[in-house]
Amino acid sequence: MSILLLVPLLGISIFLLGLLVWTIFKHLLTTDVPSALKHPVKFRILDCLFIYGITLGSILEKLNICSMPTFARFVHDRLFRKTNDPKVVVTDLHYGTIPVRLFQPKATSSNSFGGIVFYHGGGGIIGSLDYHHNVCVFLARETDSVVLSVGYRKLPYYHFPVITTDCLNATIHFLKRLKSYGVDPSRVVVCGESIGGGLVAQITQALVGRTDLPKIQAQILIYPVVQCINFQLPSTHQNHNIPFLTWDFLIMCICKYMSIDLSWKDAILKGAFIPPETWKKYRKWLSPDNIPKSFKKKYKEPQFPGCFNETAYLEAKHLLDVHHTPLLADDETIAQLPKAFFVSCENDILRDDTLLYKKRLECQGILVSWYHVEDGFHGCITLFDKQIFSFPCSQKILNAVVSYIKGL
Ligand SMILES: *[C@@H]1O[C@H](CO)[C@@H](O)[C@H](O)[C@H]1NC(C)=O
Ligand SMILES: *[C@@H]1O[C@H](CO)[C@@H](O)[C@H](O)[C@H]1NC(C)=O
Repeated sequence: MSILLLVPLLGISIFLLGLLVWTIFKHLLTTDVPSALKHPVKFRILDCLFIYGITLGSILEKLNICSMPTFARFVHDRLFRKTNDPKVVVTDLHYGTIPVRLFQPKATSSNSFGGIVFYHGGGGIIGSLDYHHNVCVFLARETDSVVLSVGYRKLPYYHFPVITTDCLNATIHFLKRLKSYGVDPSRVVVCGESIGGGLVAQITQALVGRTDLPKIQAQILIYPVVQCINFQLPSTHQNHNIPFLTWDFLIMCICKYMSIDLSWKDAILKGAFIPPETWKKYRKWLSPDNIPKSFKKKYKEPQFPGCFNETAYLEAKHLLDVHHTPLLADDETIAQLPKAFFVSCENDILRDDTLLYKKRLECQGILVSWYHVEDGFHGCITLFDKQIFSFPCSQKILNAVVSYIKGL
């Protein structure tokens, strides 16, 4: 081989190896591994892969080679292969400009199917139709439902509020075509994880009062994001450094999607962007007073929100947007929502989002079921079929979702 080729190859190898060493140090110095986890070594390896991929992506982005989200999705779509099932027919479609994927169980009898609209997670950075493909195949097969997975458009090209409008459009489109898919209109549920769980909350709220569309039968929120206002809750303290949603990754997703400069992250963490009168109005729904005592181990309530900073408010005020913060919807809207199934994970920075939103629904008389997973962590469901990289919590959650749907 020519020496001209060897030198750059050697350089790249040394760089990648150096990055690996840096990754391992970063992991060892910053990552907390929950004690309830049965496979800490696996968890550590996955976290290193995650940090490595995101960091390499960020370096490529700085070098103007490709954006970090594009790189991250390229890697995870190839690392974790999608597998099909002979019993489920998969079709890629576009609803307008929105890519969607339809999973249809092969007809066994003349009965019509249930319907599931699925919004994947990933903070607008990771996650895709491919990455969440196997979860959808599983749901379609096990619940005998037609699943519509929404490939909403995301970073780096699309920002707030495109994810919400894409999901709303796709959902409405699906609801209008249930007959052609053989779906029973009285048996449609919406389901999502992480940001997709937040979308479930937003979409069900947006559909309240839409008498022209079939009513959603139930909503399934798996470790959802329902607010970006209070980051001083017990779970944000307890699970600050637990993969796969550390505070650093969470705030990066929020700032990129909401087009906020990352230099405001401390102001957001401390709540310095929240005007005192706004806090006074919404405190009753956002405060840790709503979190049961048993979830407040070692929690010392901080002064919140921090000293108000007008510039921070001007930069980040859309985080307070009532239309995109399901937790802040008015009582009248909440009272008309479909019944709900919540999944929360103990080792998740967003655990308390679930507890707060669940309480809001309960207070308005909505029928709520709740599955709390002691050994669960954020993002775990997509690992359910990843063999050596799978965790018991992944399958437990999917089984709970399936039995909830079957019991409707
Ligand atoms: C979403 O729906 C609205 C109203 O029907 C339409 O104007 C808009 O173009 C749609 N957006 C996309 C991305 O399809
Ligand atoms: C607001 O925060 C910025 C950045 O931290 C700081 O430079 C500025 O002085 C603050 N403004 C006030 C009024 O505290």
